[in-house]
Amino acid sequence: MEEKQSFLNQKIDLESPNRNIVPITTSIGRDGKLFVGGCSIEELVKKYDSPLYILDEMTLRKSCRAYKKALEKYYPGKSLPIYASKANSSIFMSNLVSSEGFGLDAVSEGELLTALKGGVPNEKIVFHGNNKSDKEIDFAVRNNIKIIVDNDHDLKRLEEFSNSLNQDLEIMIRFTPGIECHTHEYIRTGSFDSKFGFGIEYLNNLFAIISKTKHLKLKGIHAHIGSQIFELDPHKDLGEIMVKVILDSKKYGHSINELNVGGGLGIKYTESDDPPTIDEWVKTISFSIVDACKKNKVDFPTLMCEPGRSIVSSAGITIYKIGAFKQIPGIRTYLSVDGGMSDNPRPITYQSNYSACLVSNPLNINSKNKYTIAGKHCESGDVLFKEIELADCETGDLICVFGTGAYNNSMSSNYNRIPRPATLLVNNGEAEIIQKRERPSDLLKYDILPDRFIKQN
Ligand code: LLP
Repeated sequence: MEEKQSFLNQKIDLESPNRNIVPITTSIGRDGKLFVGGCSIEELVKKYDSPLYILDEMTLRKSCRAYKKALEKYYPGKSLPIYASKANSSIFMSNLVSSEGFGLDAVSEGELLTALKGGVPNEKIVFHGNNKSDKEIDFAVRNNIKIIVDNDHDLKRLEEFSNSLNQDLEIMIRFTPGIECHTHEYIRTGSFDSKFGFGIEYLNNLFAIISKTKHLKLKGIHAHIGSQIFELDPHKDLGEIMVKVILDSKKYGHSINELNVGGGLGIKYTESDDPPTIDEWVKTISFSIVDACKKNKVDFPTLMCEPGRSIVSSAGITIYKIGAFKQIPGIRTYLSVDGGMSDNPRPITYQSNYSACLVSNPLNINSKNKYTIAGKHCESGDVLFKEIELADCETGDLICVFGTGAYNNSMSSNYNRIPRPATLLVNNGEAEIIQKRERPSDLLKYDILPDRFIKQN
């Protein structure tokens, strides 16, 4: 029997889960089949059906702890890691990150509500967004949640809000530091041409405007340069730039004591990805801020960072069942699964690559086939993998896709009226549902047929 080297044979980095393709508890059972969190994936699908999102609690907690530990080790001032909930928002995720001492970043009333329901203390929540509605601002202000001002429009409305309530409001401002980094252009946000934040060249003006307001108190600055970044230099530069901004703001009477560097640390989706460890990332940022503070005689501000993907991505897997095969001689063999672009829109949106295996033969023993794995949606581009090598498989077999914890569920849709999968949490051989599977009938909940149409039929 030929055994091909599989990514599943690689040593697992227990300290920095973003460097693994698989959840840290992944193992192969005595039956040769895939286990995660001590649970047989095959048994879980028998009980909970497919497609299925699964999150591994141990990987989530390890990732959170790696950030906490590194911040405590390298940063002499106060620090607060904040989970970017856009990566995967649920009451469970809010509760888990909060239990690990994290704050939470939200960008809509929905994410804010989820965070509060999950028990995140309001003083640890920050509210982002380049087009916050009045209703959302009102919700945030009433719940004492700190708002990150993104543009003049935000600023004007917050000034009006604070004046009408005759109440001081602590704010942070987001700016674009003009740092280029190598990632997909859709997830690059720190360059000058970005819809987010104030241009750095405008900050002096902004400081003057804020200091003239009656109730707005500038507490902090924020910048996020992009996502799925493997280089450390952009974050080193960011630390220095941000401390300089704090220094500039002093001339206008502000005393900024919070510095939020955003998120962005990349993860390993495929074997060719080589992201830094969480420890290295935090160390780079901390050292650059500490150096710049010392050089410029600035007190250490509270250091905040907002990881999303590197907390949740490698903790998550998606399980699909194989249905139809279509062989096009001399071209390729399509294998279709029971989900696709509605539960994972990243391949069609960003041409993202993932790693996958058969649940019954994870090590691809006797691997000899190349398949193109297609989703079930009415869209030719609904392809999850082009030409992936898998062992022999047939209708009914299960496929596990790794690294799907971030930006899959949170960007999912009901295209073709396909219900969203359930999410299970696995830990120590136990599985719990943290998000129920949608049913087709759930998708009708908000449809209304006006009376006159009912009468017509
Ligand atoms: N903070 C801010 C202000 C952000 O805009 C983001 C991500 C984060 C933190 C978290 O970044 P992370 O640590 O996850 O890289 N949908 C895309 C990713 C969009 C990221 C948007 N902002 C994807 O699927 O790759």
